[in-house]
Amino acid sequence: MKILAINGSHRKGKNTAALLRTVLEEAAAQGATTELLELTDYNIKLCTSCNKCLGKPQCSITDDDMVIVGEKLLAAEGIVLGSPVYWSNVTTLMKNFMDRTRYLHMTQNLLAGKVGAAITNAGLRHGGQEPTLRIMDYFMQAHGIHVVDSRDPAGPLTYAGVTGSLMEDFKEDKVIWRRNATDDELTVASCKQIGRTMVKLIQQLNG
Ligand SMILES: Cc1cc2nc3c(=O)[nH]c(=O)nc-3n(C[C@H](O)[C@H](O)[C@H](O)COP(=O)(O)O)c2cc1C
Repeated sequence: MKILAINGSHRKGKNTAALLRTVLEEAAAQGATTELLELTDYNIKLCTSCNKCLGKPQCSITDDDMVIVGEKLLAAEGIVLGSPVYWSNVTTLMKNFMDRTRYLHMTQNLLAGKVGAAITNAGLRHGGQEPTLRIMDYFMQAHGIHVVDSRDPAGPLTYAGVTGSLMEDFKEDKVIWRRNATDDELTVASCKQIGRTMVKLIQQLNG
């Protein structure tokens, strides 16, 4: 069982990468093979809207790294998207990646039936995490991917998505900052739950 995490942060190895690694480590502990793909390592050109993918499941751009990323997506049974919040939205890298997957969707949903999840984090406590998460959820749903959330059926009721923030609190007119998004226990617990839920659903779907 292969689970691929895609980091849309423009900063490799930082908060979003740490959260994705937390998901992957838990999935690996449940027996999955995992990979963290940093979009900053890949040269992915902009979609030119040539619409070739309306006629056949192919992209007209073949001289960049989307070929490699597309193969990795097709080979994975689970896909975790991670993007920090940029202006209450996904990053430019994540959005560009999304656009370039159109050839996997237009004539037939080639990623359909896989299991997916999304995670995000932002500077502020209410910095646009929810719309960012939803954008990635909608994207995966459009691809026919089964999107899971972070609710632990046996645990207490918490927010169902994986969001984090660097802003920890506000006391006596001062903002208290976390050093890392992984300093938030709930965010880390949610990441781990996503890892477990993904593995369980993939196992159920594969019989
Ligand atoms: C261009 C840009 C836009 C951002 N927009 C927001 C925002 O709308 N809300 C917010 O709370 N934080 C915003 N941030 C802060 C990042 O979400 C935050 O620093 C995050 O932890 C970065 O993740 P990373 O460490 O994986 O790069 C923005 C950062 C950048 C660079």
